[in-house]
Amino acid sequence: MIKLEGIDSLIDAVDKMIKVLGHSPRTPHYEAYNEHSVRLMRVNYAGEVAAQGLYLGAGFFEADPRLQSFYQHALIDEFRHLDWCGSRVLSMQGRLSYCNPIWFFGAFSIGAMSRIAGPSYALGFVAETERQVLDHLKDHLDRLPQEDVRSRQILMTMIEEEEAHGEEAKRLGAVQLPPKVCQMMAAMGRVLTSVSERL
Ligand SMILES: [Fe+2]
Ligand SMILES: [Fe+2]
Repeated sequence: MIKLEGIDSLIDAVDKMIKVLGHSPRTPHYEAYNEHSVRLMRVNYAGEVAAQGLYLGAGFFEADPRLQSFYQHALIDEFRHLDWCGSRVLSMQGRLSYCNPIWFFGAFSIGAMSRIAGPSYALGFVAETERQVLDHLKDHLDRLPQEDVRSRQILMTMIEEEEAHGEEAKRLGAVQLPPKVCQMMAAMGRVLTSVSERL
């Protein structure tokens, strides 16, 4: 028999999925179109969609309340990042990636599978993802036009928070993933980056 808690967490996961995939960022005011900034911020929006998928997937099979609470808090931060990046893209009159559902479900599967392998593996995936995201965000900060102050501010705040997520995952018992797995994750990250920059 399916436990009630199972149904509850399924409803919660579907609800959050709808919130991410149906997300329409606010557009406070329009600014001049800046192709370069739009591309970079579209990639970052896609990355945040993937972050939602990863944390939701890991949290879905997590029973430990301490870890559950970590995933829930990270999801709140990541949703804020998602909203900032999306609003930024739209305010520069850009569009979001068509592939967002693919990033979401891909990352959800990775999060879920890593948690099935064990709680410290799920945390290991989170810690490694956040480490790679940090490198990526610092690179984007170098590449963003100096005059795009708003996008730069967004990335700087994200850098601080992603770092905190990674540290917290390590503190909670993340295992160091084998180098081959880290390389595979980096390759997937490059696919997300180059596809969502264009599509
Ligand atoms: Fe984030
Ligand atoms: Fe994060």
